[in-house]
Amino acid sequence: MSSDRNVQQVAYGGYFKRETPAPDLEITATDPGTPMGEYMRRFWQPVCLSVELTDLPKSIRIMGEHLVAFRDRSGRVGVLHRNCSHRGTSLEFGIVQSRGIRCCYHGWVWDVDGRLLETPAEPEDSKLKDRVFQGAYPAFERDGLVFAYMGAPDQKPDFPVFDSYVYPKGTKLVPFSNVYPCNWMQVHENIMDHMHTALLHNNMTVAGVDATEAGLNLLGFGDMPVMQWYETRNGNAIIFIASRRVAPEKVWVRITEMYLPNIVHIGSLMPSAASVRHAGVCLTRWHVPVDNTHSIIFGWRHFNDEVDPDHIGDEAKCGVDAIDFLVGQTGGRTYEEGQRAPGDWEALCSQRPIAIHAAETPGFSDTGVYLYRKLVRNAVRGKTPADSTRVVNHGGNLHTYGQDSVLHAPERPKKEDRALLKQLGLKVLAIMKEGDALPSRKRDAHIRKRLDELDGGAR
Ligand code: FES
Ligand SMILES: [Fe+2]
Repeated sequence: MSSDRNVQQVAYGGYFKRETPAPDLEITATDPGTPMGEYMRRFWQPVCLSVELTDLPKSIRIMGEHLVAFRDRSGRVGVLHRNCSHRGTSLEFGIVQSRGIRCCYHGWVWDVDGRLLETPAEPEDSKLKDRVFQGAYPAFERDGLVFAYMGAPDQKPDFPVFDSYVYPKGTKLVPFSNVYPCNWMQVHENIMDHMHTALLHNNMTVAGVDATEAGLNLLGFGDMPVMQWYETRNGNAIIFIASRRVAPEKVWVRITEMYLPNIVHIGSLMPSAASVRHAGVCLTRWHVPVDNTHSIIFGWRHFNDEVDPDHIGDEAKCGVDAIDFLVGQTGGRTYEEGQRAPGDWEALCSQRPIAIHAAETPGFSDTGVYLYRKLVRNAVRGKTPADSTRVVNHGGNLHTYGQDSVLHAPERPKKEDRALLKQLGLKVLAIMKEGDALPSRKRDAHIRKRLDELDGGAR
């Protein structure tokens, strides 16, 4: 079988294309000791939801490591290696204590930091407690998510708090998870692949199904956007702009931000997204590897009047493997439902357990995906400088660029109109960046004022 790509590109050429190239493990595999795994371990990662920590321990798997998470009766969270360091019994069968967790087999008690507190079957003068530790990772809870740091202790960073976690005032962060039986990277890349929103989330594949009823084309995503992608924060982030015409007089500019290695900040997911005057982040997500062929999206739905003025979102629908927007975000449907109205879950999980980059045929729409792979490979290889924005103190918060703005801009002839959409996207981003030197609260007011001026100028 020829591996010559030219020979493979012929009609009825299936015979020449039967081999599947190997996955790009340098950036997709995250088991301990892998290049990407070591890089990703340098960041705080969500590992479960707070509601999953009850009086019973929770067995979890993150980046190929078998772990157990629990909240002891003093309220402290522990994330420990799952197999007891005595003789290997799983701590998922352990008993949560007022301090730490007791292994069910011989009663050894491990503190949240891995310290051995009790060895009831050992002689009283046993010195085991002085020298044995269970593998443990630092962990904490914030707004219903449990975060752990699994990297080298001397490289532990501060947890990055973005201003969208706090603003606008009254924002409520509601935690959720969505389980994906495929490699984490294809789930993450789906966000940079913004053009799919106009196709997968349109009703093109759903003959005979009411698009609105099926939750499809919900956001006015049907219009093909003018896309622009930019590398930012010293190569640690990508900002991309999707500008769409949503009415003869109106243009919707959406900015989404990806922050290495696996965070995204996304604008409104409600039908009102295409009509809100200006709104910030509606969704923060981490795409977390369970192992190389399974992943979980952990995140916060942001609830506030700004991103969802009509209160269409539903907190009660967000939780463990559950989310309140679009269909096809989880694997909870029948196979036929997935075939008749495929969503992100069907599109991503079917890219193979690990998407094979070498078998792809990239086009313009994949610009953001390929930019991401370049940036993350640079970072994995240690070629990326630190994000300088992280040392700037904006009242303790990092600025967020994810947003939606709708501007008054009368339609022009087609080619000219596409140029106008691109230009308006850049102008909104420039206004967002004008506020870089301001603390978050003032920045928001500045952005609104300047958008009003832009809106006036576009009339
Ligand atoms: S295996 Fe855990 S205490 Fe013995
Ligand atoms: Fe999608």
